[in-house]
Amino acid sequence: MTSRLVLAIETSCDDTAAAVVRDGREAVSSVIAAQAIHRDFGGVVPELASRAHLDLLGPTVDRALAEARVRLDEVDALAVTRGPGLLGSLVVGVAYAKALALAADKPLVGVNHVESHLWAPVLDGTEPPVPFVGVALSGGHTEFVLVRGFGDYALRGATRDDAAGEAFDKVGKLLGLGFPGGPAIDRLAAGGDPAAFALPRAMLDSGDYDVSFSGLKTAVRRLVGERTPPFEERWLADVCASFQAALVETLCAKILRLTADSGARAVVVGGGVACNRELRAALAAGCGRLGVPAIFPAPRWCTDNAAMIGVVGARRLARGAPSGADLEPVASLEETGFAQTVAGPAS
Ligand code: KG4
Ligand code: ZN
Repeated sequence: MTSRLVLAIETSCDDTAAAVVRDGREAVSSVIAAQAIHRDFGGVVPELASRAHLDLLGPTVDRALAEARVRLDEVDALAVTRGPGLLGSLVVGVAYAKALALAADKPLVGVNHVESHLWAPVLDGTEPPVPFVGVALSGGHTEFVLVRGFGDYALRGATRDDAAGEAFDKVGKLLGLGFPGGPAIDRLAAGGDPAAFALPRAMLDSGDYDVSFSGLKTAVRRLVGERTPPFEERWLADVCASFQAALVETLCAKILRLTADSGARAVVVGGGVACNRELRAALAAGCGRLGVPAIFPAPRWCTDNAAMIGVVGARRLARGAPSGADLEPVASLEETGFAQTVAGPAS
């Protein structure tokens, strides 16, 4: 049986988040304390992130319980992000969740962060039909996963270098747009010409489902050359539109090929980059041609949040034993066991 009320905690990167999830699908509350401090540094500073989690986590959990009008003793179980992510940040969440679970005598389950992005549509009331192609696109992730069922995953492709969000953020920095760069590029690109500059689309014919964005970033650096911000508005919009078009086209090509090859019944895209309007439009059109739905969670479930951790936590608890007191955070996707359990023969 699904735990009725799960208190979920997420601290894998720079957002301190807690949520109360009912029946593995409804976010009764979802609180996110974004750490503004990283903006001043143009990126996430791991040491600052873990220290801020220490300060913010207690109040964030209290608020999530208060907004849900639930006391800790009324919660059935706890779920916490185990990895992948920044180790120092994960340690804070896992240690806190363990202590809370012990004190309240509740079961605790460790959750894979990437897996939780793929099931985020559940929070909007959408249960994706399996098999589906699950895509995680964020500042730290670019993974293409064939989801055959809950807990049954095959990692089919990934980035060879920069994550998609990392590419947005690095280009945003080059263009003097601040951090994170994705939302600003999305906005500026809407007024630019995507054909203004011919930028590389790497690995389109590589015959696999991997992508690479470092060449694209280098090409933008060359365009910027010796210029210094602030840049002329028209030029800036054209660079943003051209960069975004190259990145979106590359992503869509690989995602759609995997979808067609695997006979998937839907495509689910999660992570902050799933907020990108051009990506949403292009993928929806491509999926339309294949006759499968492109499922994007609402923007607040695309970016990091604890409700998606609660969804997967509840399902894990329904299927087996909770994690023991020996639950430890793990930094890389490989260490979480996700890639191993999943790598199957190419279809
Ligand atoms: O999932 P997320 O909140 O945090 C992690 O990185 O785990 O994703 C943040 C990333 C950043 O790289 C940000 O630039 C990107 O998502 N992002 C976007 C957009 N909104 C956020 N990228 C492109 N277009 C957007 N609209
Ligand atoms: Zn994430």
